[in-house]
Amino acid sequence: MMAAPAVLRTDQPARGDDLSTPALRANLGILADWEAELARILLSEGQGHLFENWPPPLNADADKHRFFKQVQKLDASYPGGLRAYISNARKLLQESRDGVNPFDGWTPSVPSGEVLTYGNTAFSRYEAEGVRQANDAAFVLVAGGLGERLGYSGIKVALPSNIVTDASFLQTYVESILALQDASNAVAEDRDDGCQCLPGVCPPQWTSFFPARTVPSGPRRIPFAIMTSDDTHARTQKLLEEHAYFGMDKDQITLIKQEKVACLADNSASLALDPDDKFRILTKPHGHGDVHSLLYSSGLLKDWQAKGVKWILFFQDTNGLIFKAVPSSLGVSATRSYDVNSLAVPRKAKEAIGGITRLTHKDGRKIVINVEYNQLDPMLRSSGYPDGDVNDPSTGFSPYPGNINQLVIKLESYVKELSKTRGLVPEFVNPKYKDSSRTSFKSPTRLESLMQDYPKSLSPSADIGFTVLDVWLGYAPVKNNPEDAAAKLAAGTPPHSATSGEAALYRANCLILRAAGAKVADPRTVRYNDQETEMWPRVVWSPKWALTLADVKAKVRGASVEIAQDAVLILDGPEIYLEAMKLDGALVIRSKEGAKVRVAGLDVRNKGWTFQSIGWQDRREPEELRVRGYKLVKREQKEIEFDKPGEFVVSH
Ligand code: UTP
Repeated sequence: MMAAPAVLRTDQPARGDDLSTPALRANLGILADWEAELARILLSEGQGHLFENWPPPLNADADKHRFFKQVQKLDASYPGGLRAYISNARKLLQESRDGVNPFDGWTPSVPSGEVLTYGNTAFSRYEAEGVRQANDAAFVLVAGGLGERLGYSGIKVALPSNIVTDASFLQTYVESILALQDASNAVAEDRDDGCQCLPGVCPPQWTSFFPARTVPSGPRRIPFAIMTSDDTHARTQKLLEEHAYFGMDKDQITLIKQEKVACLADNSASLALDPDDKFRILTKPHGHGDVHSLLYSSGLLKDWQAKGVKWILFFQDTNGLIFKAVPSSLGVSATRSYDVNSLAVPRKAKEAIGGITRLTHKDGRKIVINVEYNQLDPMLRSSGYPDGDVNDPSTGFSPYPGNINQLVIKLESYVKELSKTRGLVPEFVNPKYKDSSRTSFKSPTRLESLMQDYPKSLSPSADIGFTVLDVWLGYAPVKNNPEDAAAKLAAGTPPHSATSGEAALYRANCLILRAAGAKVADPRTVRYNDQETEMWPRVVWSPKWALTLADVKAKVRGASVEIAQDAVLILDGPEIYLEAMKLDGALVIRSKEGAKVRVAGLDVRNKGWTFQSIGWQDRREPEELRVRGYKLVKREQKEIEFDKPGEFVVSH
């Protein structure tokens, strides 16, 4: 419905009003200037229907002010305001109605990037470089999503990543950043040893001779930002407060809250009112693409730039493996000087995961971007590849690696780009039409944006690449409820459930121990919540024990460490060295900073800890256990703790 022709009310002071809708005109007297101004914007954008059923003044006046408060928020939280939102919506809705293919004019080709082989020399070099670069990194967690598919009533970051240590995803993330901070500060200290050339103090020829670091920097604190939403903000804040920020300084963590965007009722981008509240515009999440505009508008980017940050790592709420992939991918970004580095995993042709693809436009523009699998295959077929997406015979995988939506972005070019776009990434709209005429929607829709679409607007000179890592090392998201996960598994696709996410953590740790030479038994096949999975010995270490393969190798003396199939091992301390150990049961070793613990000749056999099956629908059990389908039963364990500095040998 469009606004009636504009008529200026004569008893109002001239302020450019064009407030012609009768119900609104009648209420003008109660509006503050800023409210009238917003009304004018809405009317000029054809939104007069919003006021149609307003009662005369002295009726529901508080609700009318409440309406404008919401409009003010919607206006302020979108780059360019509501006008820009409505205008973008009209354009995208028109294109959607006309069936415009967003990839028209673009031709796909194989992108170039780094494919890592776990444990080889190049991989180790990248890991070491990544730890060094972490000194100049900031981390951004996007955690505003509702997690409807998971069916867990809490926030996803509060969910334990495993029930052996019970560490939540958020705890794991914070502790990993702190461990990286310590490790990178230690490397920076080593690097700073010797001559420090100070500009203006040392002769210029010295400064050019020792260019590495001209000003002693002191230990750095890695900044950490978390994007929340109304659905997650208060509970994320509470989780942090209740756990004393998991050991991080409070001012090191910044929460930035995304706002929802207005829903659209029709192809003209008429804003939709809540059917139960005529003074409220319906809103829905805009998607994780908001992270870019929020980093820009919050001033965080400028602040980080001033602090010397060079890299930003973006990651998601429930990938317990991500920090195993961080050092190497950060190392790749720095070595190759990528403006954008998308983390990816090997992907079978046609597998239901977006493929990283190079697109070349007929006007010469080039981007490397995620293309959804259902778009990639037809796009290739219509571009001279009659078989579409097929596996490369030499690798057995598609040449278009699978996007896992974790990005490393170079701050310098990011800031330049965002100062042009204000962080607004290209959006899309996905209305569900009532019929083939594509004229009306089944329910209101909204514009959406994706974090990974940031490169879409970058100039062709931008260096955009990817880093492919093994799935087992870096990707195990927890997204699906048990029923959907079981169905996915039956259909041959990854379940991405709490069960598979936890099993993946044990598998990764065991494979890393094996890569360090330890003798780790094969996994057992188990079935929880109708999902068959491989359960490896349940080995968990705190991030301060090891971040990289080099750390693990330095702390585990290869084949003299043996771990049996049902063993549980928890290592929580920075300096625990496994020199000779046989474990068939449960063993927990904790040590504080300064305690150097050598495990030499320890043979542990006890009844251990087991997982006992529970039903997904068994309401007597806590939800965080039901989503995985088992609970922990502690039968017997050996626990060793060192809370004082010193050197200790454990042999019995
Ligand atoms: P998901 O694809 O997992 O979506 O988001 P979701 O909304 O969290 O979960 P479902 O679809 O309702 O089940 C990927 C990442 O993006 C974040 C999520 O928190 C997750 O880390 N996200 C998603 C946001 O931060 N904001 C959003 O608006 C949407």
